[in-house]
Amino acid sequence: MTDLSEPIAKPEHEGAPIAPPLWLLAELTYRCPLHCVFCYNPVNYADHTRELDTDQWLDVLRQARALGAAQLGFSGGEPLLRDDLETLVAEARKLGFYTNLITSGIGLTEKRIGALQEAGLDHIQLSFQDSSQELNDFLSSTKTFDYKKRVATLIKAHGFPMVLNCVLHRYNLPHIGRIIDMALAMGAEYLELANTQYYGWAHANRAQLMPTKAQLDEAEAVVERYRNEIGDKCKIFFVVPDYYERRPKRCMNGWGSVFLGIAPDGAALPCHTARSLPGLTFPNVTEMPLKDIWYESDAFNRFRGFGWMKEPCRSCDEKAIDMGGCRCQAYLLTQDPANADPVCDKSPHHERVIEVVRAASARQAPQEQPILFRNDANSRRIAAEASGNGSEQEGENQP
Ligand code: FES
Repeated sequence: MTDLSEPIAKPEHEGAPIAPPLWLLAELTYRCPLHCVFCYNPVNYADHTRELDTDQWLDVLRQARALGAAQLGFSGGEPLLRDDLETLVAEARKLGFYTNLITSGIGLTEKRIGALQEAGLDHIQLSFQDSSQELNDFLSSTKTFDYKKRVATLIKAHGFPMVLNCVLHRYNLPHIGRIIDMALAMGAEYLELANTQYYGWAHANRAQLMPTKAQLDEAEAVVERYRNEIGDKCKIFFVVPDYYERRPKRCMNGWGSVFLGIAPDGAALPCHTARSLPGLTFPNVTEMPLKDIWYESDAFNRFRGFGWMKEPCRSCDEKAIDMGGCRCQAYLLTQDPANADPVCDKSPHHERVIEVVRAASARQAPQEQPILFRNDANSRRIAAEASGNGSEQEGENQP
């Protein structure tokens, strides 16, 4: 495996300077009232309990804006668990960010939404797990479906543009028409139907969540039918899972290219799940100015440009299109983050993706092994196993 702890030379950029970050994701906390089986937070999130305080976050916002970031997402975990969210939104507005709250809705009361609006919040993205109470509540291991519906009404009543988000997988793909009906009934302007990306908890539950090709084809046909019927009333985004593609996605638009994520403890990340890559040390905003982190740090320079690429990426005439795909996926599937993303059919490891897809189609039912809910006990157990101290403690697979 490529040793990521080795210092690297400055990346080659074909003469072009490193562009500033455009998109800041502030992951305010890993705490969350939900226990979603596809959560992209690190599976060992329970090891990272420290959170930046209000002043530290305010400083991050100021530094990021000075660097050039313009879009700001408040995310988590559940960002509403931070009672300084309104303060942060107000500062972000003052600085000129376009702000988006990415939320499960839990904690969004009439009082709170009013305060956030007054603070200048621009946009709310509300997640649902399904159109049915039964599946919504099962997948999040909570009883939150009715609550979320009330939150959707609140968002509309306050005049926010509303994006509904629903992560798709084997369980809810057959409900896609009903999910769209639900979004239309709620008055959503945008519906993001994002097929699961297999990182974090979703990777741990991949065998249960991976859909069949037939499910995906049917879902795409349903989406197309709705698009033709409803026109501009609601814009539907349907993101195909990349395991079914032959070329990888240009993940994060390229490592260290536009995206800057700050984890709850202040670690600066070039993508949401970069923490899973072994050997990389992520600089912390409490120890280094954001400008140095973005332009100078080893972690952000590691996969910038093309100099880090191995074959087949290095000599590929499509490398400037996909930038080698996703580093985290390359690591998860080939154990080397400097390999080509094996979604690419030019990768010598592409067969690993094909095997997963084949197994998904051969599987009759999704629940042949217990599904793993995101919770502290499971997180600690997985972290202990990864560090070689695996205990006999069973993961919690019941809500
Ligand atoms: Fe980390 Fe793609 S998710 S590089």
